[in-house]
Amino acid sequence: MINHYLDNAASSYPKAPGVGRAMADYIEQLGVNVGRGTYAQASEAALTVLETREKLKRFFHFPGRENHVVFTPGATYGLNQILRGFLKPGDHVIVSSMEHNAVMRPLTDLQECGVTFSRIPADQDGKTNAADLVPLLKPNTRLVVVSHASNVSGTIFPLEETAQLCRQYGIPLVVDAAQTAGYLPIDFEALGLAALCVPGHKGLLGPQGIGAMLLTPSFAKLLTPLTTGGTGSASDSELQPDYMPDRFESGTMNLPGIMGLNAALDFVMEQGVESVRAHTKMLTQQFLEGVRRLPVRIVGPNDPEQQVGVVSLDFCDLDNAEVAFRLEQESGIITRCGLHCAPNAHKTLQTFPQGTVRFSFGHATTEEEVAYAIRGINKIFD
Ligand code: ALA
Repeated sequence: MINHYLDNAASSYPKAPGVGRAMADYIEQLGVNVGRGTYAQASEAALTVLETREKLKRFFHFPGRENHVVFTPGATYGLNQILRGFLKPGDHVIVSSMEHNAVMRPLTDLQECGVTFSRIPADQDGKTNAADLVPLLKPNTRLVVVSHASNVSGTIFPLEETAQLCRQYGIPLVVDAAQTAGYLPIDFEALGLAALCVPGHKGLLGPQGIGAMLLTPSFAKLLTPLTTGGTGSASDSELQPDYMPDRFESGTMNLPGIMGLNAALDFVMEQGVESVRAHTKMLTQQFLEGVRRLPVRIVGPNDPEQQVGVVSLDFCDLDNAEVAFRLEQESGIITRCGLHCAPNAHKTLQTFPQGTVRFSFGHATTEEEVAYAIRGINKIFD
């Protein structure tokens, strides 16, 4: 058991109760593939796969059918599938200045094929104004892709206003919910999204290696699959099936991951996203108050209303990597330091290249742990 784990933005810990058991039971007692054999065990496993799609559909208020909830290894894969499968030479994309490399690296690759992008500016707390998207629109703007909240500063993006503008201008909106799925309510239908990419292993409290991409039927039709291969369906043909979800799910799926995610979703839905939000907001408030008088820069909104349970600190005169190392060595406090795979977010926040020490709270983080972390940070200055 790890104590003082404050790196939930990288992966949540502990996972929801029952996740490990569900995965072990599957491996030890079922272990079959789905969509291949027609025996009873395969049908049983396939039912759980379908049930997991249904749970994701309900959780995110997805208006389409379960077959448009596509399993992926994580949010990164879904974002790559969408960007690489949708954009064509000459297309223009709008992103925010706070994007993770899961969005920026595929887009940078795609620049070589004639795709261009513009960034919605953010202030040095990572805050954006949705209206700043409008002057960036061009006749060839085909997509808007934004993170729901920054993995560096926790800053929450103005998603509703952005979605409203995207609907008004008829541009599909894709959301990277890596830091918010399970932590903030997301209503796919009300927002009118084209696609939502989520990891299973962060706020959804499932295992690593499983995530999902939720696609409207009209948007799904516009994507070329990144991978093609065996789907267990249409085996008389060497052409990729064009129906969902097979179109995007070639090869054997991560079944232990899906079993784990299934169990995790029961817990997450029982807890309720609102109560997890209230808990992480309260911890964020406690933490911010605890570090406010220290000689550190609180990077980000410095306001629990405007950020998820992620707080970055710049220790200014000290080396941030050394601080993170000392927190671990001296107090057993686990954080993530550096640039968090988001170089432009750090440039925007004016913490490039020194990076920050990031503290991130989850459903199981306690007030005692936050108080302990504050004491540990104070010790650094003794
Ligand atoms: N993107 C994850 C993080 O921020 C892994 O740590």
